[in-house]
Amino acid sequence: MTTNPETDRDRGRLRAVATGPVVRLRDVTKSYGSGAANTKVLRGVSIDVERGELVALVGQSGSGKSTLLNIIGGLDMPDSGEVEVLGIDTLKAGDKKRANLRNQSIGFVFQAFNLMDHLTCLGNVTIPSVFAHNTGAKEIQERGRESLRRVGLADFAHRYPTELSGGQKQRVAIARALFGQPSLLLCDEPTGNLDSETGKEVIDFFRELNAKDGVTLMIVTHERRVSSVAKRVIVMKDGLIAETSDEEIASKQVGPA
Ligand SMILES: Nc1ncnc2c1ncn2[C@@H]1O[C@H](COP(=O)(O)OP(=O)(O)OP(=O)(O)O)[C@@H](O)[C@H]1O
Ligand SMILES: [Mg+2]
Repeated sequence: MTTNPETDRDRGRLRAVATGPVVRLRDVTKSYGSGAANTKVLRGVSIDVERGELVALVGQSGSGKSTLLNIIGGLDMPDSGEVEVLGIDTLKAGDKKRANLRNQSIGFVFQAFNLMDHLTCLGNVTIPSVFAHNTGAKEIQERGRESLRRVGLADFAHRYPTELSGGQKQRVAIARALFGQPSLLLCDEPTGNLDSETGKEVIDFFRELNAKDGVTLMIVTHERRVSSVAKRVIVMKDGLIAETSDEEIASKQVGPA
């Protein structure tokens, strides 16, 4: 059998992308403001998150959790450092490639749900389809319904967000995040606006999504319950990170449940 060095090298590269970390940060820094008002939020953060991990990101208010998540998701840019997501160097990639990565491979879930009240649940869930250029209207509707079914809201397609409970709204927001079948889900305090029972359901859903579908999750949270289901906890402090898989230490960092 003959070998083709070019192809083998390409295959090697593709394999590396397919098996490498989902998120790779090196010495990432970020400041806001200038002069006396300058705040150094990230002071050189390096993290690897592997495929299939469920990571909790904890730390005091203002410690830079949302900033870090936004940089990983390409919603914000660092001042310096390296950011690689799913094998793509997001700082070197052009706007189009970065947008494609964000729209096709990453799902976002926010504390405030961010649903559009004038659209039905199905309308909200299918918003990302504006980026699915080669997908027909029928398939978009089917995929939207499938996403709603996955979060247990199959019968809510034609209801409006204003008619839903907080937990139901967050499930619609999760269905929207799942519409593009992302391999990385970034969640910023997803249970922050939910009562404890509803929050638990959302966390259980994330855990199942991680275990059954292999979706990699990074969840910013103040709640011990979330960090207790995570196999790994990243603690942010003074613009740097400390890691622990020890739930007891993590729970001390995030305060009482
Ligand atoms: N767009 C911005 N302009 C100026 N300062 C900002 C901006 N975004 C964040 N900051 C500052 O950066 C720091 C970190 O903010 P960030 O939102 O990342 O914290 P956080 O850990 O998510 O906090 P919380 O738990 O309250 O959500 C804070 O001091 C904040 O005031
Ligand atoms: Mg935040």
